[in-house]
Amino acid sequence: MKFLVFALLLVAGANGKVFERCDWARTLKEHGMDGYKGVSLANWVCLTQWESSYNTRAVNHNSDKSTDYGIFQINSRYWCKDGHTKSSNTCKVSCSDLLADVNKSINCAKRVAAHQGVGAWVAWRAHCKNKNLSKYLRGCHL
Ligand SMILES: *[C@@H]1O[C@H](CO)[C@@H](O)[C@H](O)[C@H]1NC(C)=O
Ligand SMILES: *[C@@H]1O[C@H](CO)[C@@H](O)[C@H](O)[C@H]1NC(C)=O
Repeated sequence: MKFLVFALLLVAGANGKVFERCDWARTLKEHGMDGYKGVSLANWVCLTQWESSYNTRAVNHNSDKSTDYGIFQINSRYWCKDGHTKSSNTCKVSCSDLLADVNKSINCAKRVAAHQGVGAWVAWRAHCKNKNLSKYLRGCHL
C-alpha cells in the first residue's frame, strides 16, 4: 500500500509541481507576462503566490459550487470546463489540463486579464494591489 501511494505520487508529480518563486517568475517572463495588459511581472508573481503558492495542482471549491484550478486558480464557471459546473468555458480548455500544463494555465490567465483585468483575481486585490511588490522578484536574476 505504501508502495502504491508512492507510485501514484510519482505519476502525479510528472504532470504538476510547486514552482520555486524565481523559477516561476522566469517562466512567466518567457511567456510574455511581464507587462501583459499593463500588469508587471511582480504583480503576476504576487497574485499566484496568494492564489496557489505556485502550486500547479491547487484545487479549491467555492460556495457557488464552482471550482478554482491551478497556479492561477482559474474558475470553472467562466473559463474552463470540468464537467460538473455549467460553464461558458471562455478559454476552451478542460480544467484538469490547467493543472497539468502550465502553458495552458498562462494562456487562460492572459484571456482572463484581457477580458476582466487583473482585478478579476480576489487575491490580487487583497494582497498585491497598491502594495510594494519588490520582494516578489528579489534575488531573481531576470
Ligand atoms: C510551453 O511554452 C514554452 C515557451 O513558449 C515552450 O518552449 C514549451 O515547449 C511549451 N510546452 C508545452 C508542453 O507546450
Ligand atoms: C519597497 O520596499 C523595499 C524594501 O523592502 C524598498 O527598498 C523600496 O524602496 C520600496 N519601494 C517603494 C516604492 O516604497
